[in-house]
Amino acid sequence: MLRGKHRRSAADRSALQQLLPYLALGLIIFCLLYFLWPHSSVPSTPSSNQSTLIIYAFRYTDPEAVNNFQYFLRHGIVQDGSSQYRILVPALVESEALELPPPPANTKFIKPPVNCFETGLVGWYLFQSGLVDPSRFSHFVWLTSAVRGPFLPPYLDGALSWYHLFTKQLALGARLVGATISCAPLIYSDTVQLQFPHVQQGVMATDLKGLGMLKQEGVFECHRTWLENQRQAEYQASEVMLRSGYNLGSLMRRYQGVNWLDTSKWDCNSRLDPTQDGLYDGTSVNPLEVMFVRIHHAHVVTDQPLVRQAMRYESWQNESKAPGATDISSNAWTASANKQLAQLRAKRLECFDSEFYINASPLEFKGWTPPQAFDHFLKMGFKEGRPYQFHC
Ligand SMILES: *[C@@H]1O[C@H](CO)[C@@H](O)[C@H](O)[C@H]1NC(C)=O
Ligand SMILES: *[C@@H]1O[C@H](CO)[C@@H](O)[C@H](O)[C@H]1NC(C)=O
Repeated sequence: MLRGKHRRSAADRSALQQLLPYLALGLIIFCLLYFLWPHSSVPSTPSSNQSTLIIYAFRYTDPEAVNNFQYFLRHGIVQDGSSQYRILVPALVESEALELPPPPANTKFIKPPVNCFETGLVGWYLFQSGLVDPSRFSHFVWLTSAVRGPFLPPYLDGALSWYHLFTKQLALGARLVGATISCAPLIYSDTVQLQFPHVQQGVMATDLKGLGMLKQEGVFECHRTWLENQRQAEYQASEVMLRSGYNLGSLMRRYQGVNWLDTSKWDCNSRLDPTQDGLYDGTSVNPLEVMFVRIHHAHVVTDQPLVRQAMRYESWQNESKAPGATDISSNAWTASANKQLAQLRAKRLECFDSEFYINASPLEFKGWTPPQAFDHFLKMGFKEGRPYQFHC
């Protein structure tokens, strides 16, 4: 009984062994047919992976554009495995003055053969060059050499890639994100103007769907004049999002959580450009707040506080922290302080608010006379940063 069963199963096995080559052949033919058959019914969605395409457009509009560009090359390119960088430098402007370093693995330098404003260069690369298939990316960031950045607080060094702070907001519901949003109007004439909240040029981010919308709207075309470029590449980009019911996003402290679809918000900041000196509700944006700031030669000449701040951060990043290096012993304040002190010394004692000065000092100095207080201020208080005021 047992033997019979054994013999039968042995016979089954040998039959199976004879069939095996045919089974294998069948499987191979099936696989070949499956892969070679045109999959017309399967939508040809290329596996759009979660990676970000960052496109930097350089344009020589100002001497500081070169410094902005070089800053980005030093601090903007992150090799994190989920981003690709394309640096567009029009063939027309490339010169020995613009030394291009060997590009990192995830970066390519491209020479657009066209002469457009920055967003037009980005459009040429994305939609005309044939060098890229945008549908392979999930997020897009485009930047211009009019801004310097990224500036990040040092406690975030190495903790995240700067562009995540833009693309994160896309995941949270905004469809167009930039460093700053302004409600300032674009004025054509006494009667024609555009006025609504808009993400300002310099750095912008969107997702694949947003990119399609912007392309459709002509945002990425090669605009001919400055005004046309402002209208299309800046105002129109936000207008299409708002019209389609999508929110805008920025890095500004004041505007976190604002729903820009609510038209009661459209007079934001009294319709003044918040990136201008002192115009951000009476103060100025900070490089560590908005990450990218506009720097033109004229801003450097006039020593605009925002620009001074950004350049100071940059030089601190540059300073050598090596043993023996004395970079951190300088203080730019002292140069102007002596001049300021000389002016204060020339003022009359009656003008000095000694009561205010004494009250702001520790209790044991309550007995000071006004001349003693003024003398202390000139000798020590000023350089100690003590609070003071003058009546005249
Ligand atoms: C995702 O896109 C990047 C950028 O083009 C590419 O290098 C990478 O191979 C892609 N990954 C997949 C899984 O398709
Ligand atoms: C920082 O260093 C770079 C490279 O040496 C230099 O080009 C740039 O001017 C420096 N920036 C500042 C603000 O010192």
